[in-house]
Amino acid sequence: IEAHFAGTANTLSGIHALVTAGPTHEPIDPVRYIANRSSGKQGYAIASALSSLGAATTLISGPTTLAPPRGVKFVAVETAHEMLAACEKSLPADVAVCAAAVADWRVDHAANQKIKKVAGNLPALKLVENPDILQSLSIRTTARPRLVVGFAAETEKVLEHAQAKRLKKGCDWIVANDVSPATGVMGGDENTVHLISAAATETWPKLAKSEVATRLAQKIAAHFKGANT
Ligand code: CTP
Repeated sequence: IEAHFAGTANTLSGIHALVTAGPTHEPIDPVRYIANRSSGKQGYAIASALSSLGAATTLISGPTTLAPPRGVKFVAVETAHEMLAACEKSLPADVAVCAAAVADWRVDHAANQKIKKVAGNLPALKLVENPDILQSLSIRTTARPRLVVGFAAETEKVLEHAQAKRLKKGCDWIVANDVSPATGVMGGDENTVHLISAAATETWPKLAKSEVATRLAQKIAAHFKGANT
């Protein structure tokens, strides 16, 4: 009976969760692209954990080598623009977790044909800004998810930069992590994170990415507990 209550206390049934994950690929020409390094592991684990707690979960993912978690609605995208459009199409959502490593820039006009290599002739790529998906979900005046969670991958002054990022983007929570090469976080299976809200900062021990996801899903469930869902 205790286990039963422990299980139901933190349920996310009736909640729609939106998760972005993976990199985006911004084409230069039909064979080349700009991208960030991202395995997608943390975002996929979060989608899986939210779904395990009973949330109807939509995972919007850039290109990764991972299999979509079972039971999750999976939307595959390539570019930041496609990711934003897919997020907007998936609203309304109660919670959005933006774990994608979205490319900040795209090439203004991608070439329709492969750019040929000509000795001494370097292509000048004109970059333009991509939409910020986390920010645009956070500042919506209609259908803003009740809880918007972003990630801050930092290589120095982790807490300071992450707190500033939370305010700049307008999200409710930031999961901050140190991605310096020495940490092995990028592409690895473990992560040491801080959970930052307006009220508090928690530092979690070094955990498997799946365990970070479980804890975050539990935090989200605790947040919604008592809300009229
Ligand atoms: N993000 C997003 N859309 C973008 C860029 C970032 O949704 N175009 C989201 C990421 O999913 C993550 C958060 O914003 O949740 C932090 O992204 P990051 O790239 O670290 O932030 P930047 O604003 O690019 O800050 P900086 O490059 O100065 O670290």
